[in-house]
Amino acid sequence: MARKLIAGNWKMNGNRATNAALLADVLQGLASGAPCDVAVCVPSVYLDQVSQIAAGTPLAWGAQDVSAKESGAFTGEISATMLKDFGVRFAIVGHSERRQYHGETDGVVAAKAQTALAHGITPIVCVGETLEQRDAGATEEVVKRQLAAVIHTVGHCVSEIVVAYEPVWAIGTGQTATPEQAQAVHAVLRAQLHAATEHASGMRILYGGSMNASNAADLLKQPDIDGGLIGGAALKAADFLTIIRAAA
Ligand code: PGA
Repeated sequence: MARKLIAGNWKMNGNRATNAALLADVLQGLASGAPCDVAVCVPSVYLDQVSQIAAGTPLAWGAQDVSAKESGAFTGEISATMLKDFGVRFAIVGHSERRQYHGETDGVVAAKAQTALAHGITPIVCVGETLEQRDAGATEEVVKRQLAAVIHTVGHCVSEIVVAYEPVWAIGTGQTATPEQAQAVHAVLRAQLHAATEHASGMRILYGGSMNASNAADLLKQPDIDGGLIGGAALKAADFLTIIRAAA
């Protein structure tokens, strides 16, 4: 089993002052070392700030998206090379908010994952079903289709990705999947990874969707939950640190 990973997803929140205060508190909490791998995925304009504050600490940093393109006439896009310039270790790809509000298809998500990998950035590939899909009994089919697109595109490099199972109905709603519900889907994803690579047991499958200081321990105890992708609770240092300690 791999070391657990707790990754914060700040989404479109923060400013220079609040970032500095949040990171100071998180780093103070990690002063005696981190019990698991820890990262924050921040708005790209703050990568410079975050990299300067977190350099040389146990805290890694990442982006929330990456362009599938290398460079050129793609106004508003940020390339993997640019992210590398700021020491980025991770990039979230295929977050449900990007699939929903920015029209990202499985194919686009797969291409982004491939570009990230080609530049030595670990893509955190998000998959997850909507409430409608869950109610229709389509959860397994949806997450498998989303992951299959990435596996198909990146081939044997799939062992280098991180997967995040984020049921859309649990994101930002306070409605967490139960540990049993999450574990059931994680087991499906693990089996799919096993079919694609011999390294599946060492890969990390994170849970995301209203993971917080109170429910993290029970979720992280599940055999196929190897960490968390944390939205709201990552904006509060004390909560984020509690989740990190629960992953020890
Ligand atoms: P949440 O967000 O923890 O606020 O539900 C998780 C995510 O969207 O990555």
